[in-house]
Amino acid sequence: MIPYNMPIFVPGMLENMRQACEVNRKVSGDGPFTKKASKWLEELTGAPKVLLTTSCSHALDMMAVLCGIGPGDEVIIPSYNFPSAANAFVLRGATCVFVDIRPDTMNIDETLIEHAITSRTKAICVIHYAGVACEMDAIESIARRHGLFLLEDAAQGMLSAYNGRPLGTLGDMGAYSFHETKNFSMGEGGCLILTDAGYQLPAEMLREKGTDRSRFFRGEVDKYNWQTMGSSYLPSEINAACLCAQLDIAHKITSRRLQIWRAYHDGLFDLQAEGRIELPAVPPECRSNGHIFFIKCRDIQERTGFIAHMRGRGVTAVFHYVPLHDSPAGRKYGRFHGEDRFTTAESERLVRLPLYYELQDAQVEYVIGCVREFFMKAS
Ligand SMILES: Cc1ncc(COP(=O)(O)O)c(C=O)c1O
Repeated sequence: MIPYNMPIFVPGMLENMRQACEVNRKVSGDGPFTKKASKWLEELTGAPKVLLTTSCSHALDMMAVLCGIGPGDEVIIPSYNFPSAANAFVLRGATCVFVDIRPDTMNIDETLIEHAITSRTKAICVIHYAGVACEMDAIESIARRHGLFLLEDAAQGMLSAYNGRPLGTLGDMGAYSFHETKNFSMGEGGCLILTDAGYQLPAEMLREKGTDRSRFFRGEVDKYNWQTMGSSYLPSEINAACLCAQLDIAHKITSRRLQIWRAYHDGLFDLQAEGRIELPAVPPECRSNGHIFFIKCRDIQERTGFIAHMRGRGVTAVFHYVPLHDSPAGRKYGRFHGEDRFTTAESERLVRLPLYYELQDAQVEYVIGCVREFFMKAS
């Protein structure tokens, strides 16, 4: 079988883990590997502070706390999304207001956001699906005009950009995921990107059990104690060690993923031209990191047949997400604003093809051949 994802492995991961355990004797959080990864991410994004976290979900939870989101507040998010961002706000007692997506990028439709704003709206949280940016100029101007926090679930967006600016740095706070399904993996992990240095200390305390331990380690105070509410969001050095080995060759990893993405695009382009399938769009202002390659079938029935066909050929093709507004928790904790023109219909047509760093050219050609076989027969 060709899986849809293979968690990344590069040899330096083993050596780094050995160093953390045997040489550094530092396996808990915030040791040399965590510091190195944070510095690398700060240099990449230009953000004044990037904190490594135990997951992107936890970074999103931290954002909700840092923005002071609470009961009665509303947060505008797309329904076509992973549940983590919605959970972050719901855990604080807020309501999710789901807005429809654009069918070309599967991102929140920026033209619908303003209509969904009420006197209770506190934040807009975008997700850059497949590492392709939302229309951030328009969204930023809405957020500024209405005095709302602009938050980015950039779980899939490391090394993608919008008008040359890294994803995760286009709002007040952003988050990347380093889950094993992402381009870069520390198993479970993520980071919180702060574009405003004023949030550094509150975020550090929130991440370190509500204490000012980070200030103590910097020599800014002579003892640390419990300052505010917090939890433990710092990952182990073992996880950070894995990540560091990949960051050393981050551009090579991204180039390979983009090569595979382009091979799929070129190999299937004529099927789109003939109206048999649709391919992903990358608007000119967006630079993608090749995180996901998807195609869109005619409808859910065709997609079911396609997935079965690919399985029969030894290829795993998968779909996601089931729209949040139509899930048990979404119905309880949120509401859809306006008409669901595209969220449900487009989510039922989308299917992902295998894409991972070690996928070989011959395997890519094989997958393309299997896709072509199905859609040429379908006419
Ligand atoms: C858009 C999006 N947000 C959040 C997450 C959660 O990331 P993590 O598993 O690091 O918590 C994911 C992971 O799949 C995701 O795709």
